[in-house]
Amino acid sequence: AGLAAARHQVLADAGWDVERRGLPGAPAVRVFAGAERHATIDRSLRLLGLGTDALHPVSTGPQGAIDPDALAAALRDAGPGPTIVCLQAGNVNTGACDDLRRACDLVHRHGGWAHVDGAFGLWAAASPATRHLVDGLETADSWACDGHKWLNLPYDTAFAFCARPDVHAAAMSYAAAYLVGSGGAPAGADLTAESSRRARGFAVWAGLRELGRDGVAALVERCCALARRFADGLSAAGFEVVNDVVLNQVLVGFGDDARTDRVVAAVQTDGTCWAGGTTWRGRRLMRISVSNATTTEADVDRSVAAIARLAHGIGGELVH
Ligand SMILES: Cc1ncc(COP(=O)(O)O)c(C=O)c1O
Repeated sequence: AGLAAARHQVLADAGWDVERRGLPGAPAVRVFAGAERHATIDRSLRLLGLGTDALHPVSTGPQGAIDPDALAAALRDAGPGPTIVCLQAGNVNTGACDDLRRACDLVHRHGGWAHVDGAFGLWAAASPATRHLVDGLETADSWACDGHKWLNLPYDTAFAFCARPDVHAAAMSYAAAYLVGSGGAPAGADLTAESSRRARGFAVWAGLRELGRDGVAALVERCCALARRFADGLSAAGFEVVNDVVLNQVLVGFGDDARTDRVVAAVQTDGTCWAGGTTWRGRRLMRISVSNATTTEADVDRSVAAIARLAHGIGGELVH
């Protein structure tokens, strides 16, 4: 929905009504996104008919956040024209957040639309301890965020926020004579691609009402503290924590790729905790993502002990 709104606006700025005329003959839309964007960006571009050839990957810094200087250079080289920039709050591997203030400023000076994928990282804004990571978020044009990740709501609860509700509705709205309220103020069905859906908003309301502002902040802070506890425990046990643990993500290496994969498989079979494997910067790593509201310090300590026991039981060299 965020990228559909973006597509609407950048083409409207170029004098093209995409909802009416479609994309054939439209001015080319350039889409810039960090090289470590989530794959859903690519899928959205396919579904929106912009195509993945429209995508210009921008290099990222050491923790996977977009390099603002590289973004500035890419926009300068691209010159004027319809431009969408997809930023990220919360790299799936490292938890790193793009410098949203600087990036949004660059995009707006270029006349483009700044979209933020904050599937889980947007929640950093809820706590004074992590809010700085998403400084400038409010200057973006659209955000995507999930309730089913860090807010611990049931699956398929997601949000699209658009700074311009008129643009959001222009891109997504739908009307039919038989529908109650059709043609009036934008309602739910005018803001998402689904016309019929469950009352997901109820679970969101209930979750937020139960937690309150402080409860959401505490949830975020607790998960971040537990991620640091994981990182500290695993480094103390002799394993390599590869990322700066700024949010709830921890990347751990157990030697070479094959050994790390064996440790990940052993941990999954053991069942004390669950952690997946990932490839980051060419290396196989264990990816620990702390987002469950019920996880405790004792859970982390038991998990660290189990991971250490399993890793030490697997032959091969620990390359540290
Ligand atoms: C950064 C990021 N963007 C997008 C997504 C996709 O979100 P969803 O699972 O709600 O489609 C995810 C997680 O899957 C994610 O972590």
